[in-house]
Amino acid sequence: MAVTWHNHESCGFVVLNNPPVNAINHNMRAGLISAVKWAEREKLKRVILSGSGRGFAAGADTKEFDHPPVSPHLPDVINCIEASTVPWIAAIHGAALGGGGELALGCRYRIARADATIGFPEVILGLVPGAGATQRLPRLIGLNEALKLIPTGKTMSGRAAMAIGLVDAIDDDPINAAKLIDQKILSEVVPLNLTRAGADKTVNYDVARQIAIRRMRGQEAPLTAISLLETAQTATFDDGMQKERTAFLALRASSQARALRHIFFTERAAKKPPKAIATQKSNLKPPDHVVVIGGGTMGSGIAYAFLNANIRVTILESDDPGMQRANTAIDTIISASLASGHIDPQAAADRRNRLKVMMIQPDPDTGKLGNDNLTNVDLVIEAVFEDLAIKKEILQAIEPALNPNAIIATNTSYLDVNKLAACLDNPSRFVGLHFFAPAHIMKLLEIVKGSETSPVALAMGYAVAKSLGKMPVVAGVCDGFIGNRILAALREAADAILMDGSTPSEIDEAIVAFGYAMGPYETQDLSGLDIAHANRRRLDASRDPSRRYIPIADYLVTQNRLGKKTGAGWYHYPNGKIAIDPKVEDIICREAKAANIKRRHFSSDEIQQRLLLAMVNEAANILNEGIAVSAADIDLVMVHGYGFPRWRGGLMHYADQLGATLVMAELTQLCNEDPLFWQPSQLIIDCAKTGRDFASYNNQSAKQPNA
Ligand code: NAI
Repeated sequence: MAVTWHNHESCGFVVLNNPPVNAINHNMRAGLISAVKWAEREKLKRVILSGSGRGFAAGADTKEFDHPPVSPHLPDVINCIEASTVPWIAAIHGAALGGGGELALGCRYRIARADATIGFPEVILGLVPGAGATQRLPRLIGLNEALKLIPTGKTMSGRAAMAIGLVDAIDDDPINAAKLIDQKILSEVVPLNLTRAGADKTVNYDVARQIAIRRMRGQEAPLTAISLLETAQTATFDDGMQKERTAFLALRASSQARALRHIFFTERAAKKPPKAIATQKSNLKPPDHVVVIGGGTMGSGIAYAFLNANIRVTILESDDPGMQRANTAIDTIISASLASGHIDPQAAADRRNRLKVMMIQPDPDTGKLGNDNLTNVDLVIEAVFEDLAIKKEILQAIEPALNPNAIIATNTSYLDVNKLAACLDNPSRFVGLHFFAPAHIMKLLEIVKGSETSPVALAMGYAVAKSLGKMPVVAGVCDGFIGNRILAALREAADAILMDGSTPSEIDEAIVAFGYAMGPYETQDLSGLDIAHANRRRLDASRDPSRRYIPIADYLVTQNRLGKKTGAGWYHYPNGKIAIDPKVEDIICREAKAANIKRRHFSSDEIQQRLLLAMVNEAANILNEGIAVSAADIDLVMVHGYGFPRWRGGLMHYADQLGATLVMAELTQLCNEDPLFWQPSQLIIDCAKTGRDFASYNNQSAKQPNA
């Protein structure tokens, strides 16, 4: 039974019961209607509504979202509770989210545990609340507070909800507290539908809209939520409810909501390790002590991420200046975290105390690292320069100093994880842990599985992701793994458009119009043109001679235009502000002339099409080669590591919306126009032929250790 009820004298107890989170489904809605009728029939004096198990109710059952809504609908159920002659009280523990929060708003009184979680996170799934929250919440807590909650999807604790009047009382035992409410007080409470939201001159909807546009770029739902809250101020309750329902149903069927739902469920599934390692729970224990070799840009960020997770960290650096740099980098991150209010001075001191920065000291006789501190280390992550020889030397030197059970990882962006593993006595303890900059902020963690990587080493990747709050995605070994390999295709396609007629700002604007926060050229200016330059030199010997090579970026590097850090790159930065630099267009035109290219205009649509098709094609190759386990994993990588708009559901979800047939046709057309464009991947050809979508491909075995 999704809802159960009983009474003790004149007090009714209605309990929501749909484990694990009491998701509100059809049975529960029907059960609640019956419970309202029962309480009226029994002439009860009050009904206490609570949830069994973990919480109150964590929202509507998303399994029903892909089907037409079936009556009784939640708004009708809540109207029934609100209009009942018996006053209902919500007794909240755990989560009261979305529809769960709306049920609570339909009750006359709300009592929550201080540690309950309350909110209306529908916008995160591309929706607005569909059962009255946009109309009842402003009537309860005022428009200003409601604007902070519904359009952002933010949730809050029971204690915080009490502070803004969203709940009436907090208590460790909300059911018992609900029994004790004075009957006279309870009977005098006016249901929210009979109150008015009231005019509030301090409410600034335009500012709210600007914030929503900035924080949730390109998304419809937050803006719709703001309009519905505005309606609550002017329209009658019934009109407002009608408008809310219409907007909810339209959004529910929208492509944005579908994309956001896809990415939400993909994220959930990604956190679960594959069966082969999930069964060995001890493997999934987070490390107690981590050594990070190299405290540069990545090493310091990685170290701080572990410090944040209450884990002891030792950074090993090559010399005094290196140690100094690492210490300064960590102090800078700690100061920024303090300034932003993420941590308090005590937490800052704790983090500092858990960190040691030391010099790598090779034994003068053997050349090996004999540092005693390394014997109690669970995980070593090397984050030194991107140079195979240097990394190999360090790995070989560190292995003998470690406990045989310690896992060794590399943060390499591109290098061959199998070659690195091969230099160890025990290559099975080796795994790639590819963090993204800034490592303490970016959510993605590519776990690179080498041919020898053991279940225990792979499990360490998942344990690290869990304790650091990262999104784990397993990748196979190839140049750039999943994300950087797709990025390389994007850059190659962008450079070709640049040479053939466009400018960095036109390309950046087109990609921003698609939904990215920033285009590829501005991003390169931020990360530094020297990194990509070094990578191109690494690939010189192995580059496919049939591909086009565009030398513009190389020329910029020779001019010391390394990006923002040198004051100029693809753009220049007068007074620290980004601006188009006409010199760059001159350089591009000169290079094009030298290559005998007649430049032409590219529209924003053409730019988007070429860049996206280049990425989709590379991603299809990655999937076909088994480098990525699934199309959904590629979506996670693109959304969490490369700024692909979340509301488009990720690169492959986007490709599936276009359909393989269209992707194939457009690629073929581009190849006809320009034989140097990417030939369609075999996977795209197969999908176009068979009508299969990319989402249906699953190389699950690639995720299993030693598969
Ligand atoms: P970096 O140049 O900022 O830092 C490298 C650090 O390693 C320096 O502090 C250097 O003193 C130290 N080091 C060099 N040799 C050493 C040795 N023998 N023993 C101890 N320490 C030594 O480099 P960055 O950017 O932090 O990159 C490190 C690794 O992370 C590279 O493999 C890179 O490809 C990878 N990576 C870089 C990303 C980025 O955005 N910078 C993103 C993801 C991965």
